[in-house]
Amino acid sequence: MKSIDLIAGARPNFVKIASILAALENSAFSPGFHVRLIHTGQHYDRNMSDAFFAQLGIREPDINLGVGSGTHAEQVAAIMVAYEKILAAAPSDICLVVGDVNSTLAASLVAKKAVIEVAHVEAGIRSFDLSMPEEINRMATDALTDHFFTTTRSAGETLIKEGHDQRSIHFVGNTMIDTLLRNRSRFRAPTFFASCGLTAGRYCVLTMHRPANVDGAKALQRKLRRLATAMRGIPMVFPVHPRVRNLLPPASEMPANLIIVEPQPYLEFNYLVEHAFAVLTDSGGITEETTVLNVPCLTLRDNTERPETVEVGTNVLVGADMAGLDAATDALFAGRWRSGSVPELWDGKAGQRIASALHGL
Ligand code: UD1
Repeated sequence: MKSIDLIAGARPNFVKIASILAALENSAFSPGFHVRLIHTGQHYDRNMSDAFFAQLGIREPDINLGVGSGTHAEQVAAIMVAYEKILAAAPSDICLVVGDVNSTLAASLVAKKAVIEVAHVEAGIRSFDLSMPEEINRMATDALTDHFFTTTRSAGETLIKEGHDQRSIHFVGNTMIDTLLRNRSRFRAPTFFASCGLTAGRYCVLTMHRPANVDGAKALQRKLRRLATAMRGIPMVFPVHPRVRNLLPPASEMPANLIIVEPQPYLEFNYLVEHAFAVLTDSGGITEETTVLNVPCLTLRDNTERPETVEVGTNVLVGADMAGLDAATDALFAGRWRSGSVPELWDGKAGQRIASALHGL
């Protein structure tokens, strides 16, 4: 029986592993796999971790490395030291990593040096912006990967250009969208929805936590003002990532239409997104979800590793400096936003395709 270490460390990882774990532990495959679920502990708050496990029905991890926060080097090093000990005591056949966070890179490095095959879900996407830690994690992880699972055909083409063998690339679709489609009927309004007087289609959602956007309290305050004005006073719900909490201006200096809330659990967050007039974000994963939910998305970045969300989806890059913000909001308020279509194979079955491909290795 093949033994697989499934690694998850940060919030977006939990959303991605839900459907993979379900498929790997499905009775159709269970004689084929023994899965060891390893939580690195990169995210550890109830809001950032436990709530996702509970809502998405992810079972208890077999192992929690409990590494917590730190600088990038501290975090990667702590995961490496802890995971190396696990593998030394009981090696696995395959290390299955997802996405582009520090946990993804750290586990891949350890596994590859222990001569264990690495499989990477969401392989081959590139922003070509090395100022983003996630881009470094993506490139370095793919350099070590034996089996690539891709969300788009273009990601596979990138991997071919980088010299990887076509036979190692499996175009499977998008596990984040598996989870979205599986849970869509369960999305539910957060309690503040009614108490803040929100109504469907008449508020927007803001998420912002990338270092480039939130480093510096003064700059963050200027950005929040600019965004609140650009959205012409409609309520703007801002679930605040822990790294941003301490940089927020005092309530008296906050734009009046800004509603600051805790990081939201999965079902509540996606309820907010599904019913929003628009989403403003510096996340990558959220641009995929807004594409499938057909909600206008304004990305506060200069580039994206997910070009399909711009080409066929509902996403527009307005720039990290927001140079394109006014043109975008003009189109939005005039009702001229393009209706998106769903990229190929984003159909809810990516987890099953990954399990089938692993079965066939
Ligand atoms: C990480 C990912 C990013 C992803 C994001 C989603 C990397 C390089 N980045 O960034 O790609 O979009 O997760 O949330 O892996 N903290 C808490 N509680 C937690 C987790 C973090 O308080 O449960 C605080 C800590 O003070 C920490 C800071 O948030 O220093 C940043 O956390 P970290 O895991 O380093 O990176 P993220 O910004 O969350």
